[in-house]
Amino acid sequence: MSGGASRAPRVLLGVSGGIAAYKAAELVRLLIEKGAAVRVLMTPAAQRFITPLTLSVLSKSPVVADLWDPASGAVDHIELARWGEVLAVAPATADVLAKMARGIGDEALSTYALAHRRAIVVAPAMNTWMWAHPATQENLRILRGRGAVVVEPDSGDLACGDVGPGRMASPARVAEAVLGAARVSRSLAGRRVVVTAGPTREPIDPVRFLTNRSSGRMGYALAREAEKRGAEVVLVSGPVAIDPPPNVRLVKVDRTAEMLEAVLAELPSSDARVMAAAPADFPAETFTPRTLKRAGGVPEIRLALAPDILAAVRQVRTSRQVVVAFAAETDDLAGNARRKLLDKGADLLVANDVSRSGIGFDSEENEVLLLAAGESDPVPVPRAAKAVVAARILERLAALLDERCPPAAAAHAATTP
Ligand SMILES: Cc1cc2nc3c(=O)[nH]c(=O)nc-3n(C[C@H](O)[C@H](O)[C@H](O)COP(=O)(O)O)c2cc1C
Repeated sequence: MSGGASRAPRVLLGVSGGIAAYKAAELVRLLIEKGAAVRVLMTPAAQRFITPLTLSVLSKSPVVADLWDPASGAVDHIELARWGEVLAVAPATADVLAKMARGIGDEALSTYALAHRRAIVVAPAMNTWMWAHPATQENLRILRGRGAVVVEPDSGDLACGDVGPGRMASPARVAEAVLGAARVSRSLAGRRVVVTAGPTREPIDPVRFLTNRSSGRMGYALAREAEKRGAEVVLVSGPVAIDPPPNVRLVKVDRTAEMLEAVLAELPSSDARVMAAAPADFPAETFTPRTLKRAGGVPEIRLALAPDILAAVRQVRTSRQVVVAFAAETDDLAGNARRKLLDKGADLLVANDVSRSGIGFDSEENEVLLLAAGESDPVPVPRAAKAVVAARILERLAALLDERCPPAAAAHAATTP
């Protein structure tokens, strides 16, 4: 576990209105027994199945049961959302899953879920037909795509008399998933991470430029996930059409040389850098200050070589800093990954096949190979939403940082060669 391992994991437990709500009492007890601090939120329907009093006694804290009641609702919901390292919803009704997937906040739990930025664990519990309904499955797909952990329900006899999947997982299994998510959510605490994202743009004349198809989504997903894991994140971004993640310092650049300058400025104070950008390699050798005219005939544009950002980073890194590089390849993914890992002196290489449609450049999803220095075989990360792929990359990054510089020493890593 990274920085802050000694602190109690802080769990916001949301309880929604299903028969399995009684299992929330055992879950709170288990979490407290394992050293977690627990605050409970309940939907109005949940309170028809179990009283706030029971959960408040077990959690040793007042329960947030009504957004409008000064006694419980007066707790600043943004403050509480900030406090929680993990939002665990158990049991999660079909209804609350739908609200979380679609961003509806019409009572305390779903409103808190909207303000929560860190790890999410849901333990669905419902009738087997509600579970199988395409709407429920689609909502789960959306939540998984955003990085939520779904603790699959068990199969068996249900309270309604049906038999099949839908019974909430045992409180022990849910507690294990919640504590695992809490560990992940602080796995980069105390680390400073610089992420580069997007393309760069090399001007030819005042209105024309050379660029590439990078959308920046992979880098933005990495920045968002690193922040969710407790890192202080600087995002050096080329021109993209996506909103920056919250609580991330955004440095906007246009040209490759500017990206290099921004990265070098951030390097001394960083523990890790994740180079997910696709900077343009070949700027025009000369910039034409007046727009090129058709009347002038077909222009001849000589290209030059842009600075190699990874090579420059290699020159100035310290032995404790970790570098993650990306390789966009069109063939021999594994072979090129090995070569690039050595060439660039990176600690972890992420290779993706940009010749395939639906993944990589300008796509919502990605499928990559991860190759760490000293390993002979790359580890495949199957096709998934970029948030999920980002989570896998950051898992490896956190482990590399912990090996190289244990969390206690992290504060000094950036300045000690
Ligand atoms: C006796 C009873 C048991 C229920 N059990 C469940 C259940 O296990 N899962 C579920 O998704 N909904 C169940 N429901 C329906 C939910 O309570 C209902 O959809 C409610 O609006 C959920 O509100 P909430 O998501 O805000 O807690 C049950 C309803 C009743 C009356």
